[in-house]
Amino acid sequence: MSGRTTSVGRGTLCQILDIRYPIILAGMGGASGPELAAAVSNAGGLGVLGAAMQEPEGLDEWIRRTKSLTSEPFGVDTLLPARVPEDLTEEQLRAAIPAGYLDGVASIREQFGLPADADLKPLFPALSKAFFDRQLEVVMDHRVPVYAAGLGDPARYVEEFHRRGTKVIGVVGNVRNASRVAQGGTDVIVAQGHDGGGHNSPVGTMALIPQVVDAVGGRAAVVAAGGIGDGRGIVAAMALGATGVWMGTRFLGTEESNIPDGQKKQLLEASDQDTIVTRYVTGKPVRMLRSGLPPEFEKRGLGPLPFPQMGLVSGPLLGGAERVGRYDLSPGAAGQVAGMINSIQPAGEVVAQLVRETAEALERLGGSAL
Ligand SMILES: Cc1cc2nc3c(=O)[nH]c(=O)nc-3n(C[C@H](O)[C@H](O)[C@H](O)COP(=O)(O)O)c2cc1C
Repeated sequence: MSGRTTSVGRGTLCQILDIRYPIILAGMGGASGPELAAAVSNAGGLGVLGAAMQEPEGLDEWIRRTKSLTSEPFGVDTLLPARVPEDLTEEQLRAAIPAGYLDGVASIREQFGLPADADLKPLFPALSKAFFDRQLEVVMDHRVPVYAAGLGDPARYVEEFHRRGTKVIGVVGNVRNASRVAQGGTDVIVAQGHDGGGHNSPVGTMALIPQVVDAVGGRAAVVAAGGIGDGRGIVAAMALGATGVWMGTRFLGTEESNIPDGQKKQLLEASDQDTIVTRYVTGKPVRMLRSGLPPEFEKRGLGPLPFPQMGLVSGPLLGGAERVGRYDLSPGAAGQVAGMINSIQPAGEVVAQLVRETAEALERLGGSAL
């Protein structure tokens, strides 16, 4: 299996990213850490650090560690939301949350006996333009091989990244954003459909990919994401016109993924019907394993807060649930392929298995799908 046969305007995905297989580990906030990213890169894919929630110092450490674990190309994923405050502290963001809302949240915490001490962090650090700029400075200083904007349009940074030898990926969930991001000179467009874990598009992957491929028209390499769990999914993505895949949930089920064992257990037990899409995590739609928390907000008439305020409230609740082992309340983000994950494997083995499965699926088609 190699991406060298599928060509786009500026070369194939493997040539653009200098990798062996067109399999990219999705940036998954917190879950795709240095060990997982390095393992995927060492196996011939592209490992991407899920650095959305990393403070600049922590991000610097992650990049250094990844460099010590692999000499292969790897990437860093952060968020670049379009509308964020210029420079607000966590206290200022918190002050905008109505007091009655916080009382309701406290009653959820009490109901489940969750801790409420100061060590429990919000889901995100103070998400402001200043925070994202500091993250980007670190990524640029390190001249990492690949930068991925998990949210928002990286256009205004593309020239500087290219000057430093960094390739740029933009993650999108609809055709309009795909066209806009491609227009800005981004090298690779990841189109993520409704099936996927984490922030989510209303459009299903199967319908989204060919429409994005047509709209981008070879200006950037299009990579498919959302609901790809094995080699059959990879072949399907390629058949839809993608030049590669960006896979998250499949790599959560690995020894190296940076999630608690309690969440790995929830993942192993999940069926195809065990994910939900909710705004009660970040304020934007997120697909996660079914959690007991969103119904508690609804019961109390508390609608989801906007991004990024929601993360200030949900982070300590989810973190508190993890601390007391309530993984039914904090099972983690995951996509609809969760039901396909039945064992925890080393990530390098997963890449090798995906390559084998892709070859087998292609052989079964025997050059003719009909
Ligand atoms: C646990 C988890 C965390 C995620 N965090 C991020 C993130 O921080 N940034 C981002 O760009 N996408 C994030 N995503 C989305 C993934 O990058 C990717 O698009 C998605 O996992 C693809 O769908 P799949 O899970 O079906 O493979 C996350 C997904 C999961 C499962």
